[in-house]
Amino acid sequence: MPALREDHPLNTRTAASGLVRAYRGDRPDVTPVWFMRQAGRSLPEYRELRARTDSPARDMLETCLVPELASEITLQPVRRHGVDAAIFFSDIMVPLKLAGVDVRIEPGVGPVVAEPIRTPDDVERLIASDPAVLDAALEPVREAVRQTVAGLTEIGDGTTPLIGFAGAPFTLAAYLVAGRPSKDHLEARTLMRSYPEAWDRLTRWAAEVTGRFLRAQVAEGASAAQLFDSWAGSLPLDQYQEHVAPASRLALEHVRDLADGSGRHVPLVHFGVGAGELYSAMHLGVDAVGVDWRVALDVALERIDADVSVQGNLDPAVLGAPWEIIEAAIDHVLMAGSVARAHVFNLGHGVPPTADPTVLTRIVQAVHER
Ligand code: CP3
Repeated sequence: MPALREDHPLNTRTAASGLVRAYRGDRPDVTPVWFMRQAGRSLPEYRELRARTDSPARDMLETCLVPELASEITLQPVRRHGVDAAIFFSDIMVPLKLAGVDVRIEPGVGPVVAEPIRTPDDVERLIASDPAVLDAALEPVREAVRQTVAGLTEIGDGTTPLIGFAGAPFTLAAYLVAGRPSKDHLEARTLMRSYPEAWDRLTRWAAEVTGRFLRAQVAEGASAAQLFDSWAGSLPLDQYQEHVAPASRLALEHVRDLADGSGRHVPLVHFGVGAGELYSAMHLGVDAVGVDWRVALDVALERIDADVSVQGNLDPAVLGAPWEIIEAAIDHVLMAGSVARAHVFNLGHGVPPTADPTVLTRIVQAVHER
């Protein structure tokens, strides 16, 4: 197993962190906690930085490719909340942009693709773009990760790990095919049903692209890697197994051979939204499964039926409730998570932009004190 670069400041330090240990199945004394979308619009320091550094014409994906900005934004929630992990500030659409797809993030809407992929011919045109172009194009991402990893050694005791992430092929394809966010992913599911071979070629290409994005982050010092399949919950189990899981596995293959300073492979996390019916097929050989707020952690574990750690799953809707309600909900999540070999506390999905950041800090403290 190739070791990560030997000069990684975090290389050996993070192997002993609560987060990495929990993903690997130990139960640290204190339950580690981080939040999906902890960076971004819920933080005044993020809004201030974007307002100061961005021209109105620059979209979010371009910000992700300015290493100094991506690194600073990644560090902001670690400094503020004292969370047990940083998650790299980027977006699942970044590798598609680097592969030549005309995509931008429209504020308040989400990813918008200029030329949606609707037919087998569209698929062929898209996949003619060789994923190997990413090896050079990913340099700003690599640089941002290097700067982030160096920055993390200067916060707290200097052992906070960085989590790298990527979008799963289905979620990427859902945007490529519909061209914009969709409630039911009808367009993507129609392509899958009508032209399964073209669909499989599309998702295999997406796996190569997103897998390279993930590998770049881990190879430069991320201590764990999470695959987000945000829209997989729109699928029935049989379609997921046949037309989605193999591509997700292929994406994860890009990082399976990377080891950290302890010589063990970098832990992998798989997360889906609304994926309650799919857990039996979502293990894919990962170390931890991320669970959304709809299914209790102990129930999800029964469905996964494998030796994994769990991550989740406080309902983001609770963030706006009175503190006593939040506290009770935290205890409920911790109780359900106590049946797992190990538990990493998180929300069931991303921090809403309207969340009060002081509540998030208080949740971190409460989880640490339990
Ligand atoms: O803190 C973190 O979690 C790290 C950063 C992160 C972002 N996107 C930054 C971002 C991560 C992990 C993502 C992943 C992502 N992006 C997913 C998977 C996770 C999930 O939420 O299900 C998805 C589906 C996307 C696609 C995407 N990008 C959406 C739906 C949006 C929101 C659009 C909006 O304005 O509401 C984005 C943009 C985006 N990505 C923002 C951030 C902070 C908001 C952009 C802004 O600052 O205006």
